Amino acid sequence: METHVVEWLGLLARWVHIIAAIMWIGNSMLYNWMERNLRPGKEGDPNKFGELWMLHGGGFFKLEKFRAHADTLPKQLFWFKWQSYTTWLSGFALLILVYFQSSGAFLLNPLRPEITYPIGVSIALGFLVFGWLIYDSLWRLPLNQGVKLTASLILLIAAAWGASELFSGRGAYLMLGAMLATFMSGNVFFHIIPSQKKMMATLEHGGEQDMSLSKRAKQRSIQNNYITFPVILTMLSNHYGMLYSHPFNWVILLVLMFMSALIRHFMNIRFQWKPWFAASAATMAAAAVIIFGIFHFTNQKAAAGETAGLGEPVEFVQAWAIVQSRCLPCHSTTPSRPEFSALIQGVHFDKPEELKAYADRVKVRVVTQESMPLANITAMTPEERAIIGRWVDQGAKLN
Ligand code: HEC
Repeated sequence: METHVVEWLGLLARWVHIIAAIMWIGNSMLYNWMERNLRPGKEGDPNKFGELWMLHGGGFFKLEKFRAHADTLPKQLFWFKWQSYTTWLSGFALLILVYFQSSGAFLLNPLRPEITYPIGVSIALGFLVFGWLIYDSLWRLPLNQGVKLTASLILLIAAAWGASELFSGRGAYLMLGAMLATFMSGNVFFHIIPSQKKMMATLEHGGEQDMSLSKRAKQRSIQNNYITFPVILTMLSNHYGMLYSHPFNWVILLVLMFMSALIRHFMNIRFQWKPWFAASAATMAAAAVIIFGIFHFTNQKAAAGETAGLGEPVEFVQAWAIVQSRCLPCHSTTPSRPEFSALIQGVHFDKPEELKAYADRVKVRVVTQESMPLANITAMTPEERAIIGRWVDQGAKLN
């Protein structure tokens, strides 16, 4: 597809995606908050779960939650589903526009050439479809909750490891997030909305509100509640190359996911449990210590390699020749691989000054992370990486 068309479509899809996601998650956070702040009313109505007064927008809102009967139902009843569906649909469009475009450069693992474009895209789609089928079937089984939860966590760990083996680091983070986000929308589409529809149908036929249906919808909705923070984390992760390019990227991701789900839990119980803030801060600190440990113990080899190379002086022409052949195909105003132009966001190395301006980032991407050239499409060698690293360390001089 034409690059600028992809760029415009990407902007549109991302915009819609973020707006829909804010509406969906914001709504669900508000409902969750209201649910947990309901107080029993004075009249002792057995059909009433509780009530709540709120002040917003210059007026008072009185909210009551109750079990309905056919005769108490109003003509107009609001319920929410399109926010969730729109988030999933625009997210899927973005997956195609960013990760399935440009020969899958963001998705595929440069160290696994046997996973070609069609195989990689099929595995990515498989993550969404089979991921959902496995998760959904597991939670339909008549097993103890604890067993199902343990099995889900083991499967999540396996999925994180598997994704990091099959996809690029960035692709792995995103695919794990896309899979969990699919669980969330799947829960709305296949469980929450259908049980609400059934509930309405029984009520309209004069029946009583079936509490087992409410319970099933609620279980999936609680799972969505816990998945939210980990999913938001993976959706933002493409900005953090340091994390997704790490050899233990999947462990780091799991630590951050468990941390954020635990913090979500503390936030859920915060109205009955006073030390929630201290507990959240302690969880964050513990995660930081673990991740720092992972970086520290895996970085010693890299640090040794870096200092060993400092000695030999590098001429600018050497570095420039490497950049010309390995980077300019993409990082130029006149690229020979224009399919990436939309994603490069104006980082061009046509002039030596431009290269110097980005010197620090160049070292991070080329030497520390080895995440540039993208998917090593231009076949940069380890020696060339070392030369670029030394040129930057020696002051990125232009003569
Ligand atoms: C196949 C195309 C391609 C090649 C070749 C390529 N890049 Fe990139 N580069 C990209 C894309 C796409 C982005 C934006 C996405 C990202 O940041 O991962 C990018 C972003 C960057 C950024 C800016 C983002 C940041 O982290 O600061 C730098 C710096 C960079 N590349 C350096 C290099 C260097 C140096 C080379 C050559 C050794 C190189 N790239 C080769 C495609 C390429």
